[in-house]
Amino acid sequence: MKIPTANERIHILDGQSNVWTIIREIVNNKSQEDAFYVMDVGEIVKKHQEWCENLPRVTPHYAVKCNDSLAVLETLNSLGVNFDCASKGEINKVLNLNVDPERIIFANPAKPASHIRHAAATGVSTMTFDNETELYKIKNLYPDAKLVIRIRCDATDVQCQLGNKFGCDVVTEAPELLRIAKSLNLNVVGVSFHVGSGCREPPVFRRAISAAREIFDYAETLGYNFYLLDIGGGYPGGRGTSIDKIAEIINLALDDLFPDPSIHVIAEPGRFYVSSAYTLVCNVHSIRNVSNTDPETGNNVMHRMYYINDGVYGSFNCILYDHQVVVPRPLEERLGARYYDSSVWGPTCDGLDQVTEHVMLPEMKVGDWLVFEDMGAYTLPVASPFNGFPIPKVHIVMDDTIRVLLEDTFIVTDGHFEMLTIPNNLKNKTDTTSKYELPTFPINIGNSILDYVDVVAIE
Ligand SMILES: Cc1ncc(COP(=O)(O)O)c(C=O)c1O
Repeated sequence: MKIPTANERIHILDGQSNVWTIIREIVNNKSQEDAFYVMDVGEIVKKHQEWCENLPRVTPHYAVKCNDSLAVLETLNSLGVNFDCASKGEINKVLNLNVDPERIIFANPAKPASHIRHAAATGVSTMTFDNETELYKIKNLYPDAKLVIRIRCDATDVQCQLGNKFGCDVVTEAPELLRIAKSLNLNVVGVSFHVGSGCREPPVFRRAISAAREIFDYAETLGYNFYLLDIGGGYPGGRGTSIDKIAEIINLALDDLFPDPSIHVIAEPGRFYVSSAYTLVCNVHSIRNVSNTDPETGNNVMHRMYYINDGVYGSFNCILYDHQVVVPRPLEERLGARYYDSSVWGPTCDGLDQVTEHVMLPEMKVGDWLVFEDMGAYTLPVASPFNGFPIPKVHIVMDDTIRVLLEDTFIVTDGHFEMLTIPNNLKNKTDTTSKYELPTFPINIGNSILDYVDVVAIE
């Protein structure tokens, strides 16, 4: 099988092109109909720079669950970011990149036994716990593991709460768990917390760091010498968000409460790194106009229903599971256009499959495109092809400086495109009896090279 080089498979942005121009090039290809993503590697690199500038003392361990695409993991690995894995599968994904197991934290406080055995077999020794059963399991399966107690400290304003499921109470549970760990001769090395995903209450980080300090001090009375503080995830990542305020509070709290530089401080950011890197582009394939009576005026008003080719069973699962509010933007915004009350629906036959209930949009036609930014977090790993609608493929873009930066590590393989709906036997064009055919690569469009690989059925 021919493995394409990065240049063949990745759109290189120049002074004239950006994500939006690439989107236009793709949709101007008349045969494009499926929804697709454009993933800008440069956004991830920028995020890492922002992290290093704002939180110089905190080593990031990217939460793989947020978006486990190979392109994301490789980019982060080449930037030196470490990883937070939730399962044996995620551990394998990361180890396959030749990441040292010491760079992984197994941050799931309730792990199936076989996954703990796998961690032991592969040397992923740092793992979290928040309950007594887990301590006994670890004692049996991986007694030398380095354990991190996860405490609960919830933000009051978050996109997704996690404290209802994980994190032991600092006063009523943590001391007892540490005593049990000590009696089992287990090696507890630190404290972790997660304030909730998509945190909109920066001061919670001070409360959580302060609670962690109490546990560090209590552990010392038992003879433990903790050296690891894990301040979890929760950092926003969408366009227009910043971690400035959260970072200021964290840095101050660390200076006050953990001034000892030998304490290793890590975090588990997920959406921060990937949210803004992915832009989803969907095609309006059907339209229904419904006449409603305005309850206030009694007048007839037209409501426009637009059906697009990705929905809540695909990328927009983030609306259900991640409580994300998505914003559709027409690819072509006509100057002076009138806007109408509209709703946007996914492609399946399920009434639940609604993307936005009320949104003001200009009149759309069948074949028009809607663009959704900030779609990189908690979208693709959860998406399913329910009702036979394919999961959108990802077009990767990066500008030349980023390409040079990542040149040695970012070697593009077929695995980067695993979301493609191409049958496996076609990837190397060996099946001559197939009713499908692949276009020849690369396809040049203007100054860019397109890795356009939609499959065309031969009639
Ligand atoms: C243990 C753990 N760490 C990190 C994360 C990532 O959180 P976020 O995407 O909010 O940064 C999650 C998200 O669920 C998590 O469960």
